[in-house]
Amino acid sequence: MAVDVLLGLQWGDEGKGKIVDVLAPKYQVVARFQGGPNAGHTLEFDGFKHVLHQIPSGIFRQDVQNIIGNGVVLDPIIFKKEIDGLAKYNLNVLENLEVSKKASIILPTHRLLDAAYEKAKGDAKIGSTLKGIGPTYTDKISRQGLRVGDMISPNFKAKYDALVARHKAVLDVYHFEYDLTAAEADFFEAVEFMKQFRLVDSEYSVNHALTAGKTILAEGAQGSLLDVDFGSYPFVTSSNTITAGACTGLGVAPKNIGEVYGIFKAYATRVGSGPFPTELMDEVGERMRQEGREFGSTTGRPRRCGWIDLPALKYAMMINGVTQLVMMKADVLNIFEDIEVCVAYKLPDGTITEQLPYDMTDTIVEPVYETLKGWNCSLEGLRTFESLPAELTGYINFLEEKLGLPINFISTGPDRDECVLKGALA
Ligand code: GDP
Ligand code: IMO
Ligand code: MG
Repeated sequence: MAVDVLLGLQWGDEGKGKIVDVLAPKYQVVARFQGGPNAGHTLEFDGFKHVLHQIPSGIFRQDVQNIIGNGVVLDPIIFKKEIDGLAKYNLNVLENLEVSKKASIILPTHRLLDAAYEKAKGDAKIGSTLKGIGPTYTDKISRQGLRVGDMISPNFKAKYDALVARHKAVLDVYHFEYDLTAAEADFFEAVEFMKQFRLVDSEYSVNHALTAGKTILAEGAQGSLLDVDFGSYPFVTSSNTITAGACTGLGVAPKNIGEVYGIFKAYATRVGSGPFPTELMDEVGERMRQEGREFGSTTGRPRRCGWIDLPALKYAMMINGVTQLVMMKADVLNIFEDIEVCVAYKLPDGTITEQLPYDMTDTIVEPVYETLKGWNCSLEGLRTFESLPAELTGYINFLEEKLGLPINFISTGPDRDECVLKGALA
């Protein structure tokens, strides 16, 4: 068997959580491989709406083993809150969830550092979720961080104190004021709480599952255009959000990667700062935001909205090796007479290109659009490809031709059941 990977092809919030939940019955293992509580993955079913931040989106399927992999940065305080929030569903989380001992721990001071750095940047701020992601990955790479496995070490408090002392020295340089008392109490309570969970070397769990022929889905967070190497640097997150991240974030050999599900919205959104060529700053963008309920699942911030961007999407497909395309939120475009599709960029010197420039912050590109007719009707209750309005199937065909891959799965609403399957998903 292979590890299938599911990830976002845009700037996050594509609807990954919903599709993991929909696909989960086909999988025996669902594993998060990067990111942390900056993610907000929304699932809707049986009248419930639930947002997961660190816990994999397979958790609502009782037969699925969920794993938080080594590539994740984990906040114990948020972990405890998430587990408490799941109590009403009567899930067996102590059995169905494993956490890698090699996952990095977000300390309360990582969150303070995030806030201090962003404040110091002023107008140039990244628009971070302020969950401590960047500072925690920084400590991991600079070999100073704490890992989940350290929680059960007798030296944990000493290791914590040493790292926090370093953080406090940096916070002093930034003249950043804080009171750690409450957060520290919550942190140590959450660390104790976590000890009842299965803290494991999850690379063995994943590889043993592979050897046993089990089906495994790796769940990405954020989106490819927020990848630390290939995204719109520096307006990115601090992890590799692309397929390759599943290898390092779970301990999976590249030869064991199978299908790669690329999730994208029928339009585009971005939350936080950074270049967004097709952004609509007008009433059309506002209507998209209202219709798509485009407000952050983690921070509640309004998401910036715009038309679909094919050069960016093709770039994301290229670096991920996408084998399956899934289009989300088709229903949000119901309200538009016309739909614009960005097919290329015009560079400042007039050149037309489909290639992303090195730096889209300094090189302002102008989208080149083709206009398609909208369908202007509700998609409610439509469950087959044949029943979709001709303009929507026309839109899908147009995208397929430009992207060179079929779009076999179309999402038409937030609920688990609101899906149209065109071709066979792997
Ligand atoms: P994720 O981070 O990729 O999991 O996505 P989010 O959960 O942050 O944001 C996606 C939002 O769109 C959530 O509020 C979902 O409930 C919602 N959603 C998912 N699929 C659809 C869809 O097909 N149509 C509509 N209207 N909403 C959807
Ligand atoms: P999911 O998994 C959308 C954005 C932030 C900011 C930048 C850096 O729900 O798709 P960070 O907190 O990582 O330092 O923020 O990345 N960002 C996301 N945007 N969806 C997400 O996750 C995101 N996680 C981070 O808004 O611009
Ligand atoms: Mg989200």
